[in-house]
Amino acid sequence: MSTRDLKGLVLAGGKGTRLRPLTYTTAKQLVPVANKPILCYALDSLYQAGIRDIGIIISPETGEAVKGVATRWCPPDVHIQFILQDAPLGLAHAVKIARPYLGDSSFAMYLGDNLIQSELLTLVKGFKEDTADASILLKPVSNPEAFGIAELDGCERVVRLVEKPKHPKSNLALVGVYLFTPTIHHAIDSIQPSARGELEITDAIQYLLESGKTVKPYLIKGWWLDTGKKDDLLEANRIVLDAYCTDECKGSVDETSRIRGRAEIGANARIINSVIQGPVRIGDNCVIEDAYIGPYTSIGNGTIIRHTEIENSVLLENCRLLNIPDRIEQSLIGQECVITRAQGRPASTRFMLGDHSVLEIL
Ligand code: DAU
Repeated sequence: MSTRDLKGLVLAGGKGTRLRPLTYTTAKQLVPVANKPILCYALDSLYQAGIRDIGIIISPETGEAVKGVATRWCPPDVHIQFILQDAPLGLAHAVKIARPYLGDSSFAMYLGDNLIQSELLTLVKGFKEDTADASILLKPVSNPEAFGIAELDGCERVVRLVEKPKHPKSNLALVGVYLFTPTIHHAIDSIQPSARGELEITDAIQYLLESGKTVKPYLIKGWWLDTGKKDDLLEANRIVLDAYCTDECKGSVDETSRIRGRAEIGANARIINSVIQGPVRIGDNCVIEDAYIGPYTSIGNGTIIRHTEIENSVLLENCRLLNIPDRIEQSLIGQECVITRAQGRPASTRFMLGDHSVLEIL
């Protein structure tokens, strides 16, 4: 294998504290966006870029669930290797433990909670033909303190990288997709853990710069979402539904229901006396009755919604929403949540509920 035949490395370990309580029971990379686990978008993207050998970093807590999803995703021509990281000691630490798998291959590293509008194929092609030691993806952001930040000179060369700077000198964030040659391993061996106790990939790339290696920046044009928090996840859901939602109906819609715009309706789902205003995705075996499902809503398999209005929300599988008088909006609701109501006065409500929650409005 030449050093420019890329492997993939997807990071699906870590703790996911910002999406609690959902991530007490689900890996953050497995939370669905438009009814598909975020991790599968990363895997799709690597696949579309022609990468067929993929290592996936998993944690002891959520590793089995990640394995299940990745194995179900895996096309016959892809080989996946799972690599256990005992503790989330940093992105560069993850590369370190993946080294026996990576060997002397170049690789595309993809953070499993990042969603990018895929430009990876073009990038990988360019990287294969190029002599750069690493390539990073950048995008301007309004909150640079929350990311790794790149400073460029007048000729668009990278001069400095800083992880989550208190006083950022640039608004160009490092997107969670990186292309590396094996030179990164020596850089990782040469750095120390950061103040937060992690081996930072940002520091390793900074080390490459300091030792005269070439780090090529690429400003991405499409959207990029780091789905670490509820609002980011809802935005990801909106963008993905806008871009990819079709009007395929595998279920049934009775004659008193109205579908406006694009709505994907899963197998055996039943829409009864309801209004669906797309873009909306409704999973298999759902029942939507006397309900309004507004734009940018994704509903997981097996969910039942009766006498309830909901929009701009993500519901995981097997929830029950019954008789809620106030429109539910901007909500992220975990698996098997039950929200029911006997009576009450109208008000606007926002939820972020973990799996197995029960909310009764009396
Ligand atoms: O999203 C882009 C940002 O990702 C970059 O701008 C930063 O430079 C980079 O450090 C990273 O920052 P985060 O703080 O957002 O990384 P986070 O801890 O959320 O981890 C990213 C992914 O990697 C996530 O899917 C969990 C996984 N991970 C994380 C750590 C620390 C692992 O698999 N192992 C780990 O040890």
